[in-house]
Amino acid sequence: MWEKLFQGFDFFPSQASTFAMEVDALYLFLVAITALFTILIPLVMAFIAIKFRRKPGDATPKPVHGSLVLEIAWSVIPFIVTMVLFGWGAWIFFELNSPPPNAMDVHVVGKQWMWKIQHPEGKREINELHVPVGQPVRVILTSEDVLHSFYVPAFRVKKDAVPGRYQTLWFEATEVGEFHLFCAEYCGTEHSLMIGKVVVMEPAEYDLWLQTDDQDGTETPVAAGERLFSEMRCDSCHNPAGGNGPSLDGLYRSQVALEGGGTAIADESYIRESILDPRQRTVAGFGPMMPTFQGQITEEQVFELISYIKTLGVE
Ligand code: CUA
Repeated sequence: MWEKLFQGFDFFPSQASTFAMEVDALYLFLVAITALFTILIPLVMAFIAIKFRRKPGDATPKPVHGSLVLEIAWSVIPFIVTMVLFGWGAWIFFELNSPPPNAMDVHVVGKQWMWKIQHPEGKREINELHVPVGQPVRVILTSEDVLHSFYVPAFRVKKDAVPGRYQTLWFEATEVGEFHLFCAEYCGTEHSLMIGKVVVMEPAEYDLWLQTDDQDGTETPVAAGERLFSEMRCDSCHNPAGGNGPSLDGLYRSQVALEGGGTAIADESYIRESILDPRQRTVAGFGPMMPTFQGQITEEQVFELISYIKTLGVE
């Protein structure tokens, strides 16, 4: 009878990434602590209510004036429990936010109401993300319109897609198969239809899949970015031979000194901002000469330019 009742009902989605076990262990610990106190408190209350009930003929008992041992115990024990939760949670949080350097970058744009995905080899897909098993994947996430949230329950990862900003998340799939991809932020009428799947494949199959044809051709983001870089005349200023703008060689992940003091790390977000709002954080020694490209290029083109700029000065 119970099997029937709970058919197709799992307390947890399958554990298909390296994070899944860790996140579940912490969650189960939280549930166990909560359950312990939920049971313990009423039990003790009932026990005390019965043991110290007023008995017929009894006089008023002597008042109790506190107990140092008891007070220290009920302060120190919860302190230790919450510190364990904090330390454990922080550990997982940092791990979730530290993609390994060998991670493969996939670009994901949320849009009412679909997920647009592009692979570093140029392949594009919609509402499906193909990845190889056992390979760390870093998702660079943004939105074209409103807030969305990229959520793969089986991997225990979720991150908001925020318009005007790059967010990243990463995972390493441990199991071949298909897993749900959801939008977890209410984003309009068809929010509930903004669903897709992550297809985890053997690396060899993934390589074959990458080579299958699609309509958009196979121009890689780097090649497209290089083409845009000259079409939009970026190269007339950003030119290592000497132009009006700073050279972009070796820019990616370097520290940039800013006009007016301070520094910035030239990650994807900084490069994106510099294309769309170049006067926000101008490089020291350069005036506010660069025009904004806001409204003139799409999110995909921004990503292609960034992909190209990341390769500059890298042998
Ligand atoms: Cu996109 Cu909800």
